[in-house]
Amino acid sequence: MAVPTRMTVPAIAVRKARHGSDPLVMITAYDAPGARIADEAGVDMILVGDSVAMVVLGYDDTLQVTVDDLAHHTAAVARAKPRALIIGDLPWMSYHVSPAETVCNAAQLIRAGAQCVKLEGGRKRLPMIEALVDAEVPVMGHLGLTPQSMHAMGGFKVQARESEAALELVADAKALQHAGCFAVVLEGVPDEVAGMVTEALDIPTIGIGAGPRCDGQVLVFHDLLGIEDRVAPKFVRRYASVKDVAVEAVTAFAADVRSGAFPSAAESYHLNAEQSEALSLYGSGA
Ligand code: KIV
Repeated sequence: MAVPTRMTVPAIAVRKARHGSDPLVMITAYDAPGARIADEAGVDMILVGDSVAMVVLGYDDTLQVTVDDLAHHTAAVARAKPRALIIGDLPWMSYHVSPAETVCNAAQLIRAGAQCVKLEGGRKRLPMIEALVDAEVPVMGHLGLTPQSMHAMGGFKVQARESEAALELVADAKALQHAGCFAVVLEGVPDEVAGMVTEALDIPTIGIGAGPRCDGQVLVFHDLLGIEDRVAPKFVRRYASVKDVAVEAVTAFAADVRSGAFPSAAESYHLNAEQSEALSLYGSGA
């Protein structure tokens, strides 16, 4: 069987729908089993997102995770050796202080196994993006509803609903492309605005809550699979109800343990006849 070639940043950077490319498929994953599931499904990119804070670690927002947390999860994903491109998400405060600190933090994710990093924000992040590109670290941008800005934005709110804000978003996207980003995530923006940005850029846009006009789409693993079943934003499509299946299975296990139906003889280890005989002779006191 031919070994599939590993996805690369340059291979992603040219995937524009208007040039006839198939839409890019990206999903988050935070551990080796998740990466294997994503890879067997044939996705193009695996994002080790800071959403790990909310869907795995139980926090209410993404601001609680550190570079060490993201490196830990990136390494777990990388151990699955996926064909898909691995993107390490730079967490809040890891790229806000100085370009030098940004490069060191990105290096930690690259050494953990990421092939590139993602960071949130527009023109004010340009010095950091330029420093990363200069250090040979490929960068994916992230614009629109950027969850690390939740306090500044007043919550998780759809962005660029007004024409002026839409034009600012297009300008931010062009600036990210000019600084060397190889792709841009567009989150929580009107479909029409995502279409304008996608049209304005030569690099691909990856949408989440940004309508169908992007060059690709991304969803959070736990949302798509229905492992996270508490909140369902409008843009999430659940393709399975894995939490329901899991609760059903664990309930059946608990019932079997309590009734004595688990484990059965076939699920237990046994001595061979000779040893069994010896022990029963010994046990009988003969
Ligand atoms: O961390 C994450 O999961 C993300 C996606 C929503 C794009 O940034």
